[in-house]
Amino acid sequence: MMRTPLLTVAALLCVAFGYAPALHAQPTWSGSVASIIYSKCGSCHVDGGIAPFSLTSYESAAAMSSSIQFSIGRGTMPPWPPRDAENRLAHSRALSAQELATIEAWILADKPRGDVSAEPPPPRSLRSTQLPEPPQYSTRIPTYTSTATTRDVYQYFVVPTSFPTDRYVRAFEVMPGNPEIVHHALIFVDTTGEARARDAQSPEPGFPGFGGDAGDLISVWAPGSPPVVLPSNFGLRLPAGADLVIQIHYPAGTAGRVDSTRLNLLFADAGPVREVYISPMLNHVAPSLITRPFVLPANEVTTMRNSFTVPFGTYSILSVAPHMHLIGKSIRAVAVTPQGDSTTLIDIPEWNFHWQGSYLYKRPVVMRSGTTLHGTAVYDNTGHNPHNPSSPPITVRLGEATTDEMFLIYFMYTTYRLGDETLDLEALTSPTSVQEHQEISQFVATPNPTSTSFTFDGKGAPAYLCDVLGRIVRSMPAADGPQTVDVTGLPSGMYLLLSGNRRCSVSVSQ
Ligand code: HEC
Repeated sequence: MMRTPLLTVAALLCVAFGYAPALHAQPTWSGSVASIIYSKCGSCHVDGGIAPFSLTSYESAAAMSSSIQFSIGRGTMPPWPPRDAENRLAHSRALSAQELATIEAWILADKPRGDVSAEPPPPRSLRSTQLPEPPQYSTRIPTYTSTATTRDVYQYFVVPTSFPTDRYVRAFEVMPGNPEIVHHALIFVDTTGEARARDAQSPEPGFPGFGGDAGDLISVWAPGSPPVVLPSNFGLRLPAGADLVIQIHYPAGTAGRVDSTRLNLLFADAGPVREVYISPMLNHVAPSLITRPFVLPANEVTTMRNSFTVPFGTYSILSVAPHMHLIGKSIRAVAVTPQGDSTTLIDIPEWNFHWQGSYLYKRPVVMRSGTTLHGTAVYDNTGHNPHNPSSPPITVRLGEATTDEMFLIYFMYTTYRLGDETLDLEALTSPTSVQEHQEISQFVATPNPTSTSFTFDGKGAPAYLCDVLGRIVRSMPAADGPQTVDVTGLPSGMYLLLSGNRRCSVSVSQ
């Protein structure tokens, strides 16, 4: 009972001290604000981005400052649907409390510019490729004029690849032809020729369809997401002669406007490829679906559940993409090990169909056999849901139409290899990153087993100690010479020590 007020005071003090430097040091545009705006807003508020104005200079941000203050204060900007308490997702657009306070203090202080020569470079236009290397394959959908007057249009376009052999794709980039009208894109691979046949039957470029079967989904793109880039020896198989099928969403009101969206690819390096797979391990059919049958009664809020247990092997999960339609309200997935440890894989408290995307993990999430994935989706099929396509609400079932629903959580994964837990997937998207192939070597931790601490020889690279789930439990900055790691308080078990290209397992017994 006595502790609560003390804790509150302590928390308030932390908050006060946390914010104090930002307030006292008087943030300037060049000192701190520009880099926040460029990194958290620059993927949309940029030439070729979806937002209606750019925030790529001091002048543009200063001119919009009261509107910025209002929308960041209300939390409507920047759009970033996931809640990510475990800080696993790469390229987060969420503003930290500190960043929010810095921007607000800057606006309150009447937007001081600071040292102009110290300003960071503005984000690049999205009209040229963001891939770290020039694309090895680039294709465009046929020129298409939107027909979306009062209803949204979803149009599939078929792009034959005609590669004579299988190719392994390690990077995808969607470049909207007309960023103002392309609201999201799903990319499928079709080896059956069915999509091509349907296209031939419809007079216009492509053919309409909302949620249909256009092959295997391989990528999901929403405005503001960077291209998907995997390590250079990773690849998703594109079978010889397969068609790429791109479904594009054109919102109501875009009729008469023209698009020709481009898809750029990079392929895995020659040599052994680590094959990457995408599958909706959590889905809306038995045995995954637990809440059966899939029926969402009118005027009710319904919770659906599904699950999947990893049957054998160990996998490195690279990204996650949840998918529902319009009455979806929230969606969540957690992984629980046989020992009961849980990891949140995705948590979207306010689902918005128009901001669906795929989320890359900063580092692969390692999943061993026996781990169970649990999915939960809530659907609001009442008249209070502004996105409900039926008024009055009608009973909704599983299906492909806008008025039907789905419950799918896709995962991109590969079979696990030692060291995957420290792969920096986020850095690969940055054009300056260099991916090095290194031979893995063992190194020595002493004593091992240990109950208190162990020592290893640091060789100028940061080191990490990971648990069996791939979670980093200790991280050590780069140092040369002997380094000691305290393991008190860690549960007994096997851990992996990684540093540069060196690995070793450490056994902790308390
Ligand atoms: C994922 C894309 C995206 C990101 C990132 C983003 N915006 Fe926006 N922003 C938009 C779009 C699109 C609009 C147009 C209004 C709409 O459709 O909601 C908009 C509109 C705005 C507006 C006009 C008022 C309003 O709320 O509609 C302001 C101000 C704004 N953004 C500020 C910001 C700031 C500041 C950031 C970064 C902290 C940011 N935005 C990040 C897409 C984005």
